[in-house]
Amino acid sequence: MKTELTLEIIRERWSPYSFSPLPVEEFRIKAMFEAAGHAPSSRNEQPWLFVYTTREDEKVFEAYLDFLEESNRIWARNAYGLIVALARTTHAYNGKPNRFALYDTGMAVANLLLQAISFDIYIHQMGGYSPEKVSSYLGLGSDIVPVTVMAMGYLGDGSSLPAEVARKDEQRRPRKQVFEIVSRNSLSRQAFREDSDK
Ligand SMILES: Cc1cc2nc3c(=O)[nH]c(=O)nc-3n(C[C@H](O)[C@H](O)[C@H](O)COP(=O)(O)O)c2cc1C
Repeated sequence: MKTELTLEIIRERWSPYSFSPLPVEEFRIKAMFEAAGHAPSSRNEQPWLFVYTTREDEKVFEAYLDFLEESNRIWARNAYGLIVALARTTHAYNGKPNRFALYDTGMAVANLLLQAISFDIYIHQMGGYSPEKVSSYLGLGSDIVPVTVMAMGYLGDGSSLPAEVARKDEQRRPRKQVFEIVSRNSLSRQAFREDSDK
């Protein structure tokens, strides 16, 4: 995907496996969550919730690590913080299901990621965790669902990682071409193909 016109902050974001345990300043963490809260949402319900911990709260940090599948725990344990993104899946105004709750929460997370990268702080989201463990540990009611768990921190050198995990950070992950994800008028006509009719 050609990226020259893409905002630098968007281009610079990626999800590393190599994290540094160096502390992230609290004011930056707060700014990241404020950015998340600026996201748009259906009916402005702001259905996202975040719960985080840092390695300074050692016991809690270990409990959060236990949410993760082993393949994630192996590298996420080096991060400074772990963030759980939750979504309230019912509307505040009538208690009925809010079908945009996950969508809205994803947008809030996108803001969080970009604010983080503006500070050279990296976030790696994980779907490989146990929602049951998260729900049970946090005592969640049935209307609040875990969405992702995220490792957060400054970039590390990968020296404490198994070589095959550290190697994953050597290259950025590829993206589809614009024409593969955009069509004009109908799905059968890809947009922005070099060879397409104008
Ligand atoms: C919802 C979601 C779940 C993910 N789950 C995992 C995961 O369990 N383990 C992992 O290593 N990466 C996980 N990732 C990271 C993706 O693999 C990564 O974002 C994708 O390959 C694109 O790479 P980039 O973020 O470096 O651009 C997840 C990302 C998202 C958005």
